Amino acid sequence: MKAGLDDFDPEGRRVLVRVDFNVPLLEDGRIRDDARIRACLPTIQELRSRSARVILATHLGRPKGKPVESLSTRPLAIRLSELLGMNVAWCPECVGPVAQTAVQGLADGGVLLLENLRFHPEEEANDPGFATQLASLADLYVNDAFGTAHRAHASTEGVAHLLPAYAGRLMERELAALSGILESPARPLVAIMGGSKLSTKLGVIDHLLPRVQQLLLGGGMAATFLVAEGVSVGRSLVEPDFVARAAEILGRAPTLGAEVYLPTDVVVAAGPQSTAPEARSCPVGEVGGEEMILDVGPATAQRWSELVRRSGTVVWNGPLGVYENPAFAGATRLVATAIGESTAVSVTGGGDLQAALESLGLVSKFTHVSTGGGATLEFLEGRELPGVAALRERVAVP
Ligand code: 3PG
Repeated sequence: MKAGLDDFDPEGRRVLVRVDFNVPLLEDGRIRDDARIRACLPTIQELRSRSARVILATHLGRPKGKPVESLSTRPLAIRLSELLGMNVAWCPECVGPVAQTAVQGLADGGVLLLENLRFHPEEEANDPGFATQLASLADLYVNDAFGTAHRAHASTEGVAHLLPAYAGRLMERELAALSGILESPARPLVAIMGGSKLSTKLGVIDHLLPRVQQLLLGGGMAATFLVAEGVSVGRSLVEPDFVARAAEILGRAPTLGAEVYLPTDVVVAAGPQSTAPEARSCPVGEVGGEEMILDVGPATAQRWSELVRRSGTVVWNGPLGVYENPAFAGATRLVATAIGESTAVSVTGGGDLQAALESLGLVSKFTHVSTGGGATLEFLEGRELPGVAALRERVAVP
């Protein structure tokens, strides 16, 4: 287990907290969704209340090592000030004399947000000199950026070797929820995989297959599995290079004791922009040559809802249909509602599904909604995340 906020006294200390405030932005630069900022509030508030001097560092977007005005962290400091009900200082640099001076101005309990780490190419290169500059700002390091823990960057990995390095409260919650799925889930464990591409989910399916009792396959990627079963899917998006892998998964599952469920009915239309009256549901064998599968059908969604109601744990990655269009959000809504009403431990991850659950008002019904995208997938693939590996282990009390 990683050492955390319970393992040090932050009073009067400068604590560099790596957060993942990489939030989606609107075209006019406003924050579209501040969930990732809110998710770090427990760590920030706790450090403040224990009189630390809190120095926050994040990336925002992919500026490729150069300053990009639209990716400045300044609006994030304004939003964080509103959420904390206090003035959060902002520094137009993340290292160097300007940052040093800003840190010197911090009082106990004060909070400072640094400029975007990725304005410097050394951040993503995990440059030791850049990590040393970051480390020189603080006495202690806390990583609360689970969403970036799969990146071995200067602020997530390099700096953790230069300062005493601890997990923040969000990091702890994420690791507990996700390792619970892999190590000790209440059974039956049901995995629901959706989203558009099978190729991006293969690693997770491979790692979960020996662990799950039921695997439900929806979203656009279900079409690749249906083709592997010899079903005709019209103009649905298929990944032809992965049909053989899909067949291999379907063949391997029974040998591992996992039941795999593909949709038995689907919602089809001419395309993702079609309206509800233009869509129809049909058995999987009856998709027209000019039609696309855009959602799991109502009978399948009903059956899957029953399965999740009887489950002990549900892990879900990727929406079941093109949820942005209400005509194709039905299965995601029905299954999410059933999960919300069940007693199952429910863990979801991935930006698309989180956005779907938010638009359906169902986020609060889940036990844990991971803030990670790629990090969550890599964790569920069984890979060690460099940002986690670099943190101190908790010393067992004899
Ligand atoms: C994410 O949004 O998944 C993280 O913030 C990591 O961002 P990146 O994919 O640009 O490294």
